[in-house]
Amino acid sequence: MSQSSPGSPLPPASPDLPVLRVAVLGAGTVGTEVLRLIAQQGEDLAHRIGGRLEVIGVSVRDLTRDRGEHVPADLLTTDPAALVREADLVIEVMGGIEPARTLLLDAMAHGASVVTANKALLAQDGPTLYEAADTHGVDLYFEAAVAGAIPLVRPVRESLAGDRIQRVLGIVNGTTNYILDAMTRTGASFDEALADAQELGYAEADPTADVQGHDAAAKASILASLAFHSRVRLGDVHCEGITEVSAQDIAAAGRMGRTIKLLSIVERVRDETGERISARVYPALIPDSHPLSSVSEAYNAVFIEADAAGSLMFYGQGAGGAPTASAILGDLVSAARQRVRGGVGPRESRYAELEQIPLDDLRNAFYISLTVQDRPGVLAEIAGTLSGYGISISTIHQELIDQSEDGGEKSLAHIGISTHRALESAMTASLDVFSSTATVLSIDSVLRIEGE
Ligand code: NAP
Ligand code: HSE
Repeated sequence: MSQSSPGSPLPPASPDLPVLRVAVLGAGTVGTEVLRLIAQQGEDLAHRIGGRLEVIGVSVRDLTRDRGEHVPADLLTTDPAALVREADLVIEVMGGIEPARTLLLDAMAHGASVVTANKALLAQDGPTLYEAADTHGVDLYFEAAVAGAIPLVRPVRESLAGDRIQRVLGIVNGTTNYILDAMTRTGASFDEALADAQELGYAEADPTADVQGHDAAAKASILASLAFHSRVRLGDVHCEGITEVSAQDIAAAGRMGRTIKLLSIVERVRDETGERISARVYPALIPDSHPLSSVSEAYNAVFIEADAAGSLMFYGQGAGGAPTASAILGDLVSAARQRVRGGVGPRESRYAELEQIPLDDLRNAFYISLTVQDRPGVLAEIAGTLSGYGISISTIHQELIDQSEDGGEKSLAHIGISTHRALESAMTASLDVFSSTATVLSIDSVLRIEGE
């Protein structure tokens, strides 16, 4: 049996195999690993594809940086526009919207198939890329754009193409999972856990896209579009990040037997108006017994619920050079095989054109935490406001705030309330009342409860 490890005996692929010219845009964390895998597995890949991959150029900004043995200096170029016109296959791992968008459109117009890891671009302008692939009869693959090494795009758009997906729920951002996990394990604040994540290389110097939830929202828009055969753009995804999650929230969740995770949720919602879809990202409390609660460090995990398949769970490394490169190589082999044997890969499927349900119309369970005056009637007032909007309380936890060190009276309290499922609009209206009443000094947290 042939082995794929470097240096092992392998019958050489026929020298007459067709050659496929590969352009790589970017040689950073992911690009370098892509080039390593192509170099180390060249013979295996030739067998699997029925053609040889020849890297014809690697586009970067800085030509002087040493990028290791698998990124030969003579392949580097600062002219990606010229490079993509010479290629049969273009791998885009530069990131950002421009010039990536223009380069990919140009590559496809010149007949190249494209493999990209660029979730930001797909979430913002995926339809334009799909249309270009269609027009020019080439392929567009993007497994690496959602959850790194974890196969999710292919299962959703191919393996489950005959099923009816109801819901995809998961952790698709490793940085925020690392931070929330550290806060849960150590009691650290958000700022402390973020600094730790940056020091260990889990979080980038500018962590905005991760901690504000934008990265997870981009992935949610891609998953929703595929799962529900409808166009869901980044702006359609309700997005809340984890910057407001406090050590007190984590402790309160722990008291309730729950863990806080940043969840991406895309689902079908059926009500009297028919069927619509929801795509949203927010930190939520999930029961400690839920499988997602034990997903630690920077790992990702995703549940898919489909009518016939039932529940499926995917788990693994959602980021990092080698894991992400693995997903890219899988796409590269598919696109390359099609170049050799003919045919095209999956196209955009948007026939269902399902509408988005506004967040206000969703029903969710909540955990809210308030700082209130500690005097008779305050709890009754809060409960009265909630019940006036049809919100039923599930649990209440109260703690007096000890102001003795500040010379104050013990006259304030923290109240943590979890509710049964209620309309988002009802919770918003209740919070409006709380923010204008004298008895509530501050609304400290508002989090959803999921997975029950
Ligand atoms: P990175 O380390 O910052 O590398 C980006 C590379 O692209 C660098 O080599 C850079 O050149 C080059 N580049 C950037 N802008 C360019 C421009 N305008 N013209 C020419 N070259 C340019 O990024 P990465 O972490 O590898 O991520 C690449 C893509 O993969 C992004 O879309 C990201 O979202 C996606 N992704 C990353 C991961 C991950 O774990 N890192 C996981 C999944 C998906 P210089 O080196 O000269 O600066
Ligand atoms: N920044 C992302 C994460 C990896 O933390 O999961 C790229 O998708």
